[in-house]
Amino acid sequence: MRSALILGSTVAFATTAFAAIAQSFAPPAASPEQSSANYTGQTNGTISNPPLVKGKAFDRFIQIWIENTDFETAASSPVFQNLSKQGVLFDQFYAVTHPSEPNYLAAVGGDFFGAADDNFYHIPQNISTVVDLLEAKNISWASYQENMPYDGFTGFNFTQNNYLTNQGQYTYYVRKHNGLIVFDSVANVTDRALRIRNFNDFANDLKANDIPQWNFITPNLVNDAHDTTIDFAADWLNFWLVPLLEDPNFNTNRTIILLTFDETETYTINNRIFTLALGNGVPKELRGTTDSTFYTHYSALSTVEANWGLGALGRGDTNATLNNVFQFVANATGWKNNGISGNSSAIPLLNLTGTIPGPLNVNLYQPFAAPNTSGISPGGGPVFVAPGVNTSFTAAALPPPVNLAAQNKTNPWGTDPGIDYSTGTKVIKPPAPASSSSGSGSGSGSGSGSGTNGAATLDAHMSVAACFLLGIVAGVLAVL
Ligand SMILES: *[C@@H]1O[C@H](CO)[C@@H](O)[C@H](O)[C@H]1NC(C)=O
Ligand SMILES: *[C@@H]1O[C@H](CO)[C@@H](O)[C@H](O)[C@H]1NC(C)=O
Ligand SMILES: *[C@@H]1O[C@H](CO)[C@@H](O)[C@H](O)[C@H]1NC(C)=O
Ligand SMILES: *[C@@H]1O[C@H](CO)[C@@H](O)[C@H](O)[C@H]1NC(C)=O
Ligand SMILES: *[C@@H]1O[C@H](CO)[C@@H](O)[C@H](O)[C@H]1NC(C)=O
Ligand SMILES: *[C@@H]1O[C@H](CO)[C@@H](O)[C@H](O)[C@H]1NC(C)=O
Ligand SMILES: *[C@@H]1O[C@H](CO)[C@@H](O)[C@H](O)[C@H]1NC(C)=O
Ligand SMILES: *[C@@H]1O[C@H](CO)[C@@H](O)[C@H](O)[C@H]1NC(C)=O
Ligand SMILES: *[C@@H]1O[C@H](CO)[C@@H](O)[C@H](O)[C@H]1NC(C)=O
Ligand SMILES: *[C@@H]1O[C@H](CO)[C@@H](O)[C@H](O)[C@H]1NC(C)=O
Ligand SMILES: *[C@@H]1O[C@H](CO)[C@@H](O)[C@H](O)[C@H]1NC(C)=O
Ligand SMILES: *[C@@H]1O[C@H](CO)[C@@H](O)[C@H](O)[C@H]1NC(C)=O
Repeated sequence: MRSALILGSTVAFATTAFAAIAQSFAPPAASPEQSSANYTGQTNGTISNPPLVKGKAFDRFIQIWIENTDFETAASSPVFQNLSKQGVLFDQFYAVTHPSEPNYLAAVGGDFFGAADDNFYHIPQNISTVVDLLEAKNISWASYQENMPYDGFTGFNFTQNNYLTNQGQYTYYVRKHNGLIVFDSVANVTDRALRIRNFNDFANDLKANDIPQWNFITPNLVNDAHDTTIDFAADWLNFWLVPLLEDPNFNTNRTIILLTFDETETYTINNRIFTLALGNGVPKELRGTTDSTFYTHYSALSTVEANWGLGALGRGDTNATLNNVFQFVANATGWKNNGISGNSSAIPLLNLTGTIPGPLNVNLYQPFAAPNTSGISPGGGPVFVAPGVNTSFTAAALPPPVNLAAQNKTNPWGTDPGIDYSTGTKVIKPPAPASSSSGSGSGSGSGSGSGTNGAATLDAHMSVAACFLLGIVAGVLAVL
């Protein structure tokens, strides 16, 4: 089954997400509570948080994203089955498009702006994110990115020693899985950028009992199943998450942990992903149950908005089809969901990719639209309008999409703005040459030596695929 999956992604590359090299899990640290040289980035002291702001249903929200897995594949994993008993399974939870990066953008910015690839992008400072909504209420937040070399790193990826084999180099960190750093409203504001931290900071913040109230956690490319398999990621969850569920500095009585995937592996099915709400904040009577309400990545925004009475981004988070609030939170806040649940035909196709116009789509380019200021926040607050937004530039007022690629132009948002925190202070580096296919990133020290994943992945794909074919041949011979 696993070989078939790998073969599928090798042969049918265009219709499945990238996946799977044969590697074995080994713990990157002695425990999730301890720092490790394998994480590379040094800790930069304890994060400083404002006082706790009580929510209506929970006081802490921790999102953990792993990668590229169809619902059924996760559901067949014993580790996911185990975890399901401790929380609520959302079995109609959908990613919003393919591939990875647009989903990470959507979960923090309420839109993926037409993006249909994992290229280097930056999004201008007048486009807001959940950070604007949280900070308006003094709610602390952080993102913890495994193997990021230093806080606020803006580079495209980071390559370091391969800690699993101790041979050669490996690219463990990628910008495409770090949604917030893509937004200039975060990356270009020092106090915000430095809240994007690494796993040694996490160990430090945990020990200091200072984990913020809103968190986005991205494991590295092997632990999140991106370069590996669901079994590898499951081993990582047993190493990292399972002990933390017992750690009161992580899982307080009012903590919700959303364990989800960025997207399905298979592009030709709708984008349903296995998603669990865990943590002591999940009402006891709901643990071990399934909730079949239709949720999307925008639900992670609308649920947080409802819980803390926030404003909204006026994008997917206020789209009444896509923004159902987790039902136990909706019940606690009085929000009424749209009634779409189960395998309803009202669930839109969320596997579309490349056909949606927007500023990050070079073939169907449109400028950034202002937020929909008449959108209704499940939190009851106003739609946030950032400084520098032209509110008359509504979605309806946009010019028709143009094909920049046909004019031999690259995407204007694909150039690196050169924001750099390698010294701990913001420096704007001179513009890098434009590149539409892979931004170089600005971070100095962004890897010593070239990434070897590409070649290694190809080899592994070939050899595993070859083994699978041999298996078929053997099977045929056995039948004969
Ligand atoms: C780094 O990872 C390797 C492989 O899991 C492990 O043997 C080693 O102990 C780790 N280092 C630390 C400091 O935990
Ligand atoms: C499932 O949980 C049980 C009880 O905690 C544990 O003994 C078992 O090893 C777990 N299985 C997996 C595959 O993690
Ligand atoms: C947030 O904190 C600042 C500084 O402490 C304070 O002036 C402001 O009133 C607070 N805002 C809210 C909504 O609590
Ligand atoms: C970042 O902020 C600086 C001012 O600190 C400004 O000069 C620069 O244009 C900004 N860059 C972007 C991409 O917004
Ligand atoms: C958390 O919940 C447990 C069990 O309900 C209770 O015994 C404990 O006192 C609570 N802790 C806090 C800090 O409220
Ligand atoms: C999306 O999924 C549907 C099945 O739900 C399938 O019919 C359709 O072809 C898929 N679209 C793409 C672009 O793969
Ligand atoms: C809300 O989402 C649906 C489903 O993707 C889409 O058809 C609709 O256009 C969206 N509404 C707005 C106002 O963007
Ligand atoms: C929400 O409230 C409704 C109506 O009281 C109830 O039927 C339902 O079970 C509740 N759902 C959850 C998840 O708490
Ligand atoms: C946002 O800022 C960009 C860059 O400064 C500008 O081109 C765009 O028109 C602005 N968009 C809106 C909706 O105000
Ligand atoms: C785009 O570039 C190609 C190859 O360099 C050239 O043949 C073509 O005429 C160019 N098209 C336009 C619209 O400039
Ligand atoms: C470390 O944190 C301090 C504030 O605590 C900040 O001034 C400094 O720039 C940070 N350095 C890095 C490399 O993140
Ligand atoms: C890392 O970034 C470099 C430079 O942009 C690029 O050539 C390489 O393909 C990237 N590797 C991965 C694994 O993303």
